Amino acid sequence: MSRPEPFGIGVIGCGNISNQYLKNLTGFPDVAVLICADVDAGRAKAQAAAYGVPEWGSPDDALAHPGVQLIVNLTVPAAHAEVSGAAIAAGKHVWSEKPLTLDVETGRALLAAADAAGVRIGCAPDTVLGAGLQSARRLIDSGGIGTPLTALTLLQGPGPQSWHPDPEFLFAPGAGPLFDLGPYYLSVLATLFGPVRQVAAIGRRPLESRVIGAGPRAGTAFTVAVPTYVAALAEYAAGQAASLLFSWDSPLSRSGFVEITGTEATLAVPDPNRFDGDLRVRRAGEDEWTIIPAEGAAAGRGSGVVDMVRAISDGRPHRATGEMALHVLEMMAAIERSAVSAAFEDVTTRFDMPEPLDAQWDPYVTAH
Ligand SMILES: NC(=O)c1ccc[n+]([C@@H]2O[C@H](COP(=O)([O-])OP(=O)(O)OC[C@H]3O[C@@H](n4cnc5c(N)ncnc54)[C@H](O)[C@@H]3O)[C@@H](O)[C@H]2O)c1
Repeated sequence: MSRPEPFGIGVIGCGNISNQYLKNLTGFPDVAVLICADVDAGRAKAQAAAYGVPEWGSPDDALAHPGVQLIVNLTVPAAHAEVSGAAIAAGKHVWSEKPLTLDVETGRALLAAADAAGVRIGCAPDTVLGAGLQSARRLIDSGGIGTPLTALTLLQGPGPQSWHPDPEFLFAPGAGPLFDLGPYYLSVLATLFGPVRQVAAIGRRPLESRVIGAGPRAGTAFTVAVPTYVAALAEYAAGQAASLLFSWDSPLSRSGFVEITGTEATLAVPDPNRFDGDLRVRRAGEDEWTIIPAEGAAAGRGSGVVDMVRAISDGRPHRATGEMALHVLEMMAAIERSAVSAAFEDVTTRFDMPEPLDAQWDPYVTAH
């Protein structure tokens, strides 16, 4: 049987994170990056040269490229809706970096447009497809912790102003610890528990301004527009409960903490911002953690694109869907609203639980 042609990819947005994507996507055999594009032509040209991509150009060049079947949208969050919308209008499938869009209504409209055009949307984070979280999913599905009941997540630290040279956007609407890092933690729980029914939260903004700590603008003060401490409760549609903390108001840094407690054991899941990491299980009646090595591929960013193109070829659902990303976005918006209303807020969007990946799944080994 002859091997099908690799799926044609156009990358729009050639900034920081494009390095990880281009390194991986140019090595995965089921896809071929055909063009790098950016509003800044110099960046597109440089990234095409650095990663051996045959063409570079403007976003319109990528959309008009006849071989491109899927656009990987790595632009800044404020441009996600426009770029993904243009790709859909051009009849291309879309993989978007997170967040899907800045607000829920725009995200809903984007999914509807994709549906109407008969193309698919996938969305980061694809860390949920890494060996660490997929091993956790398989362990839970096999009854390894009994019935899963609750989750506890923790992300705290002093905030990115200490090291980021231009941190203002991380303290503006659409960011803060909840919107910037929440997608990693909330997507893990979505993958393990399914959709959430309602949330409640307390938000605090103890510092109205902060000072840049690194780079050429070090010492410059800027305004903090969003809560930098968010403590939330979530009730899942299937009945599980979660306590979640997202804080940039702590001198003590602790992150990557996700614990799932079931009727028979507590499972410490690896850092949701990584693709690898072992599992730790503390069974009822035991005083020590049992280490369970993660099994599977930890190939990094772009894994979700490979799952998506294989799913399109096979005519089955992909895993990191736009529907799940929209749900996570709605959940974060509801948490933010609850911090103001001091009431529980409903979350109404739903998504189909993705199938777990086999331990043998590997984006470097062609599926055909
Ligand atoms: N940097 C990281 O470590 C990181 C990690 C995970 C996710 N992300 C996500 O990746 C995305 C990009 O982040 P980044 O750090 O690479 O940002 P960046 O600012 O380094 O790069 C963004 C690029 O998009 C281009 N761009 C902006 N608007 C555009 C438009 N309308 N059309 C075409 N190109 C446009 C810019 O010129 C720039 O080259 C964001 O959604 C971010 O949340 C970044």
